[in-house]
Amino acid sequence: MPAIETKSLTKSFGDVIAVNDISFSVESGEIFGFLGPNGAGKSTTMMILTTLLKPTSGQALISGFDVVKDAKKVRESIGYVQQETTVDEYLTGRENLILQAKLNHIPKNQINKRIDDILELIELSDKQHDSVVTYSGGMRKRLDIAGGLLHRPKALFLDEPTVGLDIQTRRKIWKYLKKIHDEFEMTIFLTTHYMEEADQLCDRVGIIDGGKIQVIDTPQNMKNAMGNEVISIIIGDEENHDSFLSQLHEIEFVNKINVDGSKLTLFASNGAEVIPKIFQISSALKIKIVSIALTQPTLDDVFISYTGHEIRDDDSKFNRKREHAKMKRLRA
Ligand SMILES: Nc1ncnc2c1ncn2[C@@H]1O[C@H](COP(=O)(O)OP(=O)(O)OP(=O)(O)O)[C@@H](O)[C@H]1O
Ligand SMILES: [Mg+2]
Repeated sequence: MPAIETKSLTKSFGDVIAVNDISFSVESGEIFGFLGPNGAGKSTTMMILTTLLKPTSGQALISGFDVVKDAKKVRESIGYVQQETTVDEYLTGRENLILQAKLNHIPKNQINKRIDDILELIELSDKQHDSVVTYSGGMRKRLDIAGGLLHRPKALFLDEPTVGLDIQTRRKIWKYLKKIHDEFEMTIFLTTHYMEEADQLCDRVGIIDGGKIQVIDTPQNMKNAMGNEVISIIIGDEENHDSFLSQLHEIEFVNKINVDGSKLTLFASNGAEVIPKIFQISSALKIKIVSIALTQPTLDDVFISYTGHEIRDDDSKFNRKREHAKMKRLRA
């Protein structure tokens, strides 16, 4: 039985179809990631899987339990770490975890031991008696994750676990998540809009855009499936753009071209042969090439090839504003 399964899952808010007929399953013990830009439908999917939102149609099952019909069973078997930290700043780290343990009905005689173990795992033991006000963003996130683990869930759901954190802190969080995964043999479902996060952390990744899953595979298979080298070109003016493009399409070995304003991305099976031809065409058409680079495919390129656009790495302030507006909507 899959740890997580959705069947034609759909969620609409009025005219907006936030999640559009998605079906996928995650095996027990897998780290599975939803990779997509702002508004792709990641949080909405996660909120349905964690019983916080009801689907408009379709079905979602966690360890075989239906998120609508067996919501209580589902809640007992999962941990959920929201995008925004939920820890209380005026309590100490340990007090926060005690509160969380009580909310999760953990037997009194087990609370202290569980908290000690988790604090050690996420390396916060020495700061446990400091108030959270003094914690860095990364420490708060670690505490948040710890809170989601106290009742030893079978599956852990993390919505953008490292959004707004700097890259060093992000890498540390990845290290802790891998540790947690190995120690508890836990299924992890996370959402992210960081390519590197999906690449480093996930066994399999689903690329989601506009509420639809575009592809699901391992990061390595996705890159291999491209089977192509990537030629990134920035052109100066857009005069003769169309004839330039149509001639580029004619070049042998060029399999696909994506256009994003003045940036062209060519996927080619033999980049070294293609580049001189690009220059021949551009000089005949008097198209100015500002820069040209040949690289091996990355997950970024996979994303572009499936969605036709780059993932936008919005800053955290923008995200916070958006989340805030969303929470208001939810409360209303
Ligand atoms: N409660 C709501 N009411 C109305 N529209 C909503 C609500 N929640 C989400 N949406 C809309 O549904 C779509 C998907 O939103 P969702 O929050 O799932 O995206 P996301 O992939 O999590 O994005 P982000 O990266 O910004 O967190 C967006 O168009 C969003 O505006
Ligand atoms: Mg979100």
